[in-house]
Amino acid sequence: AVTQRANALLARMTLEEKIGQLTQLGAEVPGPNKETPDALIRAGKAGSVLWTFDSDLIARLQRVAVKESRLGIPLLFGYDVIHGYKNVFPVPLGLAATWDPALVERSQAIAAKESWVAGVNWTFTPMVDIARDARWGRIVEGAGEDTFLGVAMARAQVRGLQGPALGTPERVLTSVKHFAAYGAADGGRDYDSVFVPEVQLRNVYFPPFQAAIDAGAGTVMSAYMTLNDVPASGNRWLLRDVLRGEMGFKGFVISDAFAVQSLENHGFAADNADAAARGLQAGVTMDMASNSYMRQLPALVKAGKVPQRVVDDAVREVLAVKLRMGLFERPYAGGGAPERKAAVFNDPAHRAATREAAQRSMVLLRNEGRALPLAASLKRIAVIGPLGDSGEDILGSWTVEKGPGVSVLAGIQARWPQAEVTFSAGGDMQRAYPLPWDADQGKAAPALMSAADQQAALAKAVEAARQAEAVVMVLGERANMSGEAASVASLALQGNQQALLEAVVATGKPVVLVLLNGRPLDIRWASEHVPAIVEAWFPGSEGGHAVADVLSGAVNPGGKLPVTWPRSTGHVPAYYNHNRTHADETGRTFTSRYATDAPSSPLYPFGHGLSYTSFAYGDVTLDRTTARAGEPVKVSVTVRNTGAVAGDEVVQLYTHQRSGSAARPQRELKGFQRIHLAPGATQTVSFTLGRDELKFWSPVTRAWGVEPAAFDVWVGGSSAATAHAEFRLTR
Ligand code: IFM
Repeated sequence: AVTQRANALLARMTLEEKIGQLTQLGAEVPGPNKETPDALIRAGKAGSVLWTFDSDLIARLQRVAVKESRLGIPLLFGYDVIHGYKNVFPVPLGLAATWDPALVERSQAIAAKESWVAGVNWTFTPMVDIARDARWGRIVEGAGEDTFLGVAMARAQVRGLQGPALGTPERVLTSVKHFAAYGAADGGRDYDSVFVPEVQLRNVYFPPFQAAIDAGAGTVMSAYMTLNDVPASGNRWLLRDVLRGEMGFKGFVISDAFAVQSLENHGFAADNADAAARGLQAGVTMDMASNSYMRQLPALVKAGKVPQRVVDDAVREVLAVKLRMGLFERPYAGGGAPERKAAVFNDPAHRAATREAAQRSMVLLRNEGRALPLAASLKRIAVIGPLGDSGEDILGSWTVEKGPGVSVLAGIQARWPQAEVTFSAGGDMQRAYPLPWDADQGKAAPALMSAADQQAALAKAVEAARQAEAVVMVLGERANMSGEAASVASLALQGNQQALLEAVVATGKPVVLVLLNGRPLDIRWASEHVPAIVEAWFPGSEGGHAVADVLSGAVNPGGKLPVTWPRSTGHVPAYYNHNRTHADETGRTFTSRYATDAPSSPLYPFGHGLSYTSFAYGDVTLDRTTARAGEPVKVSVTVRNTGAVAGDEVVQLYTHQRSGSAARPQRELKGFQRIHLAPGATQTVSFTLGRDELKFWSPVTRAWGVEPAAFDVWVGGSSAATAHAEFRLTR
């Protein structure tokens, strides 16, 4: 029925109207002849509008499309609802740190409902780019470095946002992005070239996209950069052969903003007309914001340079998604009516869900001498650091809601109502350069604090620490220091934060470090001198409360790192699942490592995270030690809470294939389960290693397969797990 309706509509459309369906207007970008969005929509020259979350504007533009355009085809309104709309959840890297796909699905369902009620019916989420280089600012928007965890998070997000099928009430259309391998930018510089061989594309970078597509993602966003010298948004192999052919994607492809136009910047297309022709023919269905299709395709089709059939097929893809969403029947989504919006936005369950997600996202990196939790009886607490009182930075980047959310200071005040809680910024987070978008608008870098003022602020903070029984330092990054166009050359703490930390620790007062950030930072000094470190990411609307819940012990932290934590910038790219390397007989000298200046190991391994209790793992048992390739092997382990309080553990399973047609990573995550155990309680956790878990794409056979070989299995609380077993797969 969808195909018939799409074909019937197509038969009535002019070429301009068809191209309109392939055009997404930037809400603030006028048409080629300076037309307003209204005029273009009325003329049928737009299929979608970008970057508007103003409900009234959305409703008005939709009315123009539905009531005033010749064919009345409703518009899609696309926005980046990444981690919440009104109620802000932790940033995606934080959500991944929960290792709790069910929670992520619930969180995104709330984000979808709030988005829908405001009228935004399409979100450019989830970002499933694997990221191994923390210099890349957008590492914050994904699930980190691991493919298996990335697959679970991709699936959960699509299910949460879109529901079981397109058109599920109170859910929105998703766009899985950025196809593909955008996270592997050279030098960690956003938008830079990517060189990733096919073997890694298939084994590492593609699977989360496949998972999102299998979960029903209605659209895919093509990436900005060149992939192995061919721009991703002009890459026929990627967009047609792999995406539609092999992966079975049935929705439509939206370019990243201005990416079609950029085919020319890449030195790929000769001019804008060539960019439009090659973008469409490569498989970019809809042009985001650049108006290249609108400007160029009419003449190209008329001149026979772009076949009419290619345009028709693309329009069919867009119409099919709109029809499957039920957009023709319900063009206004939730309608954006203020009372209805307020009821959904103020639903206390939504706010509570952000707090729960934040609590579960926090990772206790270090806790020497049980420095945490802090005593309930504390009477004088100093909160120190430039992020300590910020209700804006706590939200992270890409938020419709600008806050304020609950700052760490406010959270601590609420949790210790009897205590005197002081705050000192201790300086600021000076940046050597303005942010790129500020610079674009001619804005200078924020005024730098003079060295003398900085020193005075630091001295004040030190004095506050001296007066306190305990100090909570809140350091890291401002929200806009990670995210798009926010790559860094160094992972060091910016501004005077390191000096501040060292000066406060030198007071001898008990210090707890809370990190608000979107990427691992260089915290080598802190990892030796600060007894307790909590990674709180950007935890969202209730962030400060969630931090205080963890610091006080009301909540026992159970999050785990979704990224390897490098010791220094020189340690990136950092990821646990690299291949084994050449080694001499000692295995020490002639092997991959840094020789004289630093250990090669990470500061904290992937999957790491402590708890206020402790867990003991029993032996790893297998239901069989030999099986045929493809037959499942069941792995079980018993975990016991050996401490005095209840807590969560993320039980993680890693495998290694010892030989085969190609080298395999030394460890790969192949199962995980977050469990809750009362003190003294025991639970047996089982995993199945079947075809899906053990297959890989071999660059030698050029096919997916499970190979006969010996395998190692480890189960434990991080990628450094030691409980081990082995099995063999035979032909
Ligand atoms: O969705 C984003 C994308 O991730 C980066 N460029 C802009 C798009 C639309 O906002």
